[in-house]
Amino acid sequence: MRAWCTIPHERDFPLPAEVPGMKRRAALIELSREHHGALVLTQRIAKAHDTAAVAHLMDSVPAIFRSELEPHFRIEEASLLPRLAAAGEVEQVRRTLAEHRELRDLAAKIAAGDRSRLKPFGAALNAHIRFEERELFATAESVLPAAFLDHSGQTCDPDPDPTLHEPWCHENP
Ligand SMILES: [Fe+2]
Ligand SMILES: [Fe+2]
Repeated sequence: MRAWCTIPHERDFPLPAEVPGMKRRAALIELSREHHGALVLTQRIAKAHDTAAVAHLMDSVPAIFRSELEPHFRIEEASLLPRLAAAGEVEQVRRTLAEHRELRDLAAKIAAGDRSRLKPFGAALNAHIRFEERELFATAESVLPAAFLDHSGQTCDPDPDPTLHEPWCHENP
């Protein structure tokens, strides 16, 4: 067999979010679990071809965004991103915030009834989760202190340290 034949397909390297319980540091486990749920939603959006399936998602996506994704974004923005910026990872933080803005904008348009935004929303959410699992969370696990990473309650604290809130956190790119 030629060497290239033995190169595993990307699906042979699942994201932690695709495997509940796959190793993540304690502070990121809950966020990673939520990524798994969001990936399932993106698969449902990708497979929605008939009118009934699209109509069902046009109803359910805004509710899921409000109850699950928006709170998830806020936890990342209040707890994880300030720490990463303080550690010097400003570019990855800016990208995360820009993608959150894009997803919020797409979700608002879906809530307003714009069906043309459903598939772009699913694709953007899938790419965002893959970026966070492969890059942002990997960076967090390599640069943030164990005192943060090894405490499972940390990412549920919306405002762990007000001094970590720097102007970059809310500025436009
Ligand atoms: Fe995010
Ligand atoms: Fe996330």
